[in-house]
Amino acid sequence: MCGIVGYNGSRQALPILIEGLKRLEYRGYDSAGFVLADPGDGLRAEKCAGKITCLEELIEGRKFNSTLGIAHTRWATHGEPTVVNAHPHFDSKHEIALVHNGIIENYRALKAYLESQGHAFRTETDTEVLVHLVEEYYEGDLTEAVRMALTQVEGTYGIAVICSNAQDKIVAARQGSPLVIGHGDGENFVASDVSAILGHTNRAVYLKEGEIATITAEGYEITTKEKIQCTPKVEEISWTLDMIEKGGYNHFMLKEIHEQPITLRNTIRGRLNIEEGIPRLNGLNLQYDQLRKIERIIITACGTSWHSALIGEYMIEELSRVPVEVEYASEFRYRSPIIDENTLLFVISQSGETADTLAALREAKNKGTTVLGICNVVGSSIARETDGGVYTHAGPEIGVASTKAFTSQVMVLANIAVLLGRMRQVSPVRGMELMQALDRIPEQVDQILRNEGKIKDIAGQYYQHNNFLYLGRSVNYPTALEGALKLKEISYIHAEGYPAAEMKHGPIALIDEKMPVVVIALKDPVYGKVLSNIEEVKARSGHVIAIASEGDTEIAEKVRHVIYIPETFHLFTPLLSIIPLQLLAYYIAVLRDCDIDQPRNLAKSVTVE
Ligand code: AGP
Repeated sequence: MCGIVGYNGSRQALPILIEGLKRLEYRGYDSAGFVLADPGDGLRAEKCAGKITCLEELIEGRKFNSTLGIAHTRWATHGEPTVVNAHPHFDSKHEIALVHNGIIENYRALKAYLESQGHAFRTETDTEVLVHLVEEYYEGDLTEAVRMALTQVEGTYGIAVICSNAQDKIVAARQGSPLVIGHGDGENFVASDVSAILGHTNRAVYLKEGEIATITAEGYEITTKEKIQCTPKVEEISWTLDMIEKGGYNHFMLKEIHEQPITLRNTIRGRLNIEEGIPRLNGLNLQYDQLRKIERIIITACGTSWHSALIGEYMIEELSRVPVEVEYASEFRYRSPIIDENTLLFVISQSGETADTLAALREAKNKGTTVLGICNVVGSSIARETDGGVYTHAGPEIGVASTKAFTSQVMVLANIAVLLGRMRQVSPVRGMELMQALDRIPEQVDQILRNEGKIKDIAGQYYQHNNFLYLGRSVNYPTALEGALKLKEISYIHAEGYPAAEMKHGPIALIDEKMPVVVIALKDPVYGKVLSNIEEVKARSGHVIAIASEGDTEIAEKVRHVIYIPETFHLFTPLLSIIPLQLLAYYIAVLRDCDIDQPRNLAKSVTVE
């Protein structure tokens, strides 16, 4: 949830570190800091509470001369986001500096031991024990000291360490928190995320669990904790710099909403075999006879990815009749799930690093289950540890509120549902029609985006309200949940999603003229029922904003505002109905002057349990 970047080469390190931190800021943004190895002056560090801009103000006009350094942007877990608690942290003699992502679970015991050995602690963080441990073991070999220190540690870490007595190297190590080495010419980088190094190199070496790297300007050596030499695999980064820049938009979120016609096209590229009416999902690594044997599916995920899983449940069950259970990843691992050999488990994650989802994946693998992933970030932990899966190919998602990753996940799930359906009850002709419907989705999303002005207008009328209700039924009940999550994440307005019919069992008590109710009321099998729910809201003076099917004039007479979306097969409608809800949340947050891409208290990738 925090970000790490390090540089070792012949250029000035500081501008590279600051630029890297800015690109990582979406991962954590409550405080930041850097440390440089200064040839004449030991280790020079600066830290600040707040965003990277504070750090820039702090260093403005000052001279720094160093070609080696590490930096960090923090999302606080232990200790408030103060200057003192910001990384890097130092040993007693101010000779070793360390930045850390993750949580050291046994830090209290380690701290007590180190204090008994005379170490004085300055911060409230769990991280500080690490640097004192390295100091404890340091006898002239930094890599060895880090290795020894890590043998004492329980928890998760991605770390980078430098030492004033070893100014030619950065030592980095990973356990449960990603780290990547950027391979340059006469210079090397280390980062928690490739976005920090994209402008400098497109060659990356992803550290594996338990690996320790010694990074010099000329090269790097990777060993395991047990000192076994590893052969690094240099991979090409397919993301480009323009993908992680705003490209003229005011916010990444708006850019990412607008990218959806393209990202959805990328998700289905090469996968829709329209002639045979069957999707090609080779990454699943499952033959048709294996797919036919599946008797039950469990899908586990968190947040927005969990919402896409719920939509997948409706799609897969209706098209294939295979029973699906959806479980929060954080709950899954603690309830001793029942899984047999004919149960297939899917994990869904944009980042591929969400700690709860990763833990659920590992729990299922320990039970011998085949685990498949639906993941966006290539090379991420979840992508690596699953037995197969489908990449969403949505490109880098920087806005903390997930938008394009969500629609790509739903698109993948729609393909899985059709594939499983074709193994059972869906005819080739029906399969072909469904594939054609999916093929039309990117263009239909584009059509909705062209109606942005209307949604902006509606946002203008409701942005001062403090509570919203989102209602939907069947496959659009999860869309209502996702719409409500988008609004609360970025505008801090209290919003709840509900199955429309469930409203009368409680939430109806909240409805009055101050409670806008967003209702997804499409011409689908539950249309008539949803119209009745709308009447119930109106009878209590609630203002209804309806997401309706194009051409539905009846609904326009019943509600205050209608946003139309094009027609598609009813199970695929969430791919369209979510678009106005993303835009509504976005424009409401803009009018409330919120920090849209970096909402308070949140971080893009939640790597703590
Ligand atoms: C989405 O807007 C959220 N920021 C959050 O709920 C997110 O979807 C969740 O943390 C899961 O992340 P993942 O998809 O990267 O695993």
